[in-house]
Amino acid sequence: MKIMIVVGARPNFMKVAPILRAITVYNSAAAQGSGRVLQPILVHTGQHYDAMMSDTFFADLHLPEPDIFLGVGSGSHAVQTGEIMRRFEKVLLENTPDVMVVVGDVNSTLACALVAAKMNPRPLIAHVEAGLRSFDRQMPEESNRVVTDHLSDLLFVTEASGMTNLSREGIPAERIFFVGNTMIDSLLGFASKADSSRVLNSLGLCERHEGEGDRRAVRPYALLTLHRPANVDVREAFVEIIEGLQELARSHQIIFPAHPRSQARIREHGLEPYFQFEAQPDSQRAGGIRLVSPQGYLDFVCLMKNARLILTDSGGIQEESICLGVPCVTLRENTERPVTLAAGMNVLGGVRREGIRCAVRQQLVRSQQKQMPEMWDGKAAERIVEVLVSFMSSHDDGAPAFKSLATTVKRD
Ligand code: UD1
Repeated sequence: MKIMIVVGARPNFMKVAPILRAITVYNSAAAQGSGRVLQPILVHTGQHYDAMMSDTFFADLHLPEPDIFLGVGSGSHAVQTGEIMRRFEKVLLENTPDVMVVVGDVNSTLACALVAAKMNPRPLIAHVEAGLRSFDRQMPEESNRVVTDHLSDLLFVTEASGMTNLSREGIPAERIFFVGNTMIDSLLGFASKADSSRVLNSLGLCERHEGEGDRRAVRPYALLTLHRPANVDVREAFVEIIEGLQELARSHQIIFPAHPRSQARIREHGLEPYFQFEAQPDSQRAGGIRLVSPQGYLDFVCLMKNARLILTDSGGIQEESICLGVPCVTLRENTERPVTLAAGMNVLGGVRREGIRCAVRQQLVRSQQKQMPEMWDGKAAERIVEVLVSFMSSHDDGAPAFKSLATTVKRD
């Protein structure tokens, strides 16, 4: 049974790594018994291509080299999506997988789901991290989520809101599986390894005479990620957020591993005076927003674990922060991940300076407490592989699996 797994952008890599590992485990068990072996085919669209946006994640997460690399690169949404579709169609025709797995909500997710949906015969389409909704159609990811979910045959959901959203949109219950969160599978699997990262030392965040990575020895700092077009592309919006962080920046160093888009916008908007750029910090300087390169997976997990506070406009980092027990302020008006708000470990700070200031003050005094939502137990990938195998086995009559499913889809 051929399973094609698609990755394209940075947040995809940690979501597929556990699935590939679960396939290996399944295959060893199948080889001992009479089960069918799964043949994974890893496709990388090349949506993200810099060493620090892609290669380092393959190394940190022990991902195998992609079997197929499409080398698509950057472009407008239409150009990027179209180019992935054009190149991926050939890959599907040549490889004829039984199942195609896409994850998350990036352009690669949508493009490949759309190509697969129009093949005849087509592979079964499985969407991991289905059902999340911000209800904000200005976000490109929201369109990607909605369309991918409606093209998919099997929808693997991370949190209860996903079940509600999908059933409200008319997707039949028998296609929806609440399995947990493969991004958290990776986090739980690699959290201890991240403790041996030297990033705290290399960024000068450790007190001088104590052991490396020792939490007591770490200077209090906040960790910032900010790259959404709505937050950085327009100068006023970007300035509003940075202004909202100034109070915090006076008391804490804010470490900002900046996405290439944000680095480019800082230069274009002339925002350099807001940031410190030096690689080595001035140890006398307690605060400021310190811009550093994008970090690899293990270094970033280490930075998250040891931060006093996380500030982010990312989706996945909200989830990781609550599981690590580090208070988070989300620099957006909404979240598609409401489970992260349930216990107050993550709050919506919005994108206006006053709201951000209030949220930061509130979260700075919150005590650190891990919050593990239902099913976020490190076993999501195993459940996904189990469902895929049992589904494929029950449709083992040679007929394209999509036919039996397509009849059950309710369309308005
Ligand atoms: C994409 C995802 C977003 C996710 C983010 C994580 C979509 C619609 N968005 O946004 O959901 O949170 O990835 O990083 O898919 N660039 C580089 N090197 C790279 C990749 C990108 O320099 O390796 C620069 C290019 O100038 C590019 C820009 O970043 O134009 C944006 O990249 P793109 O893949 O279009 O979207 P992201 O903003 O990264």
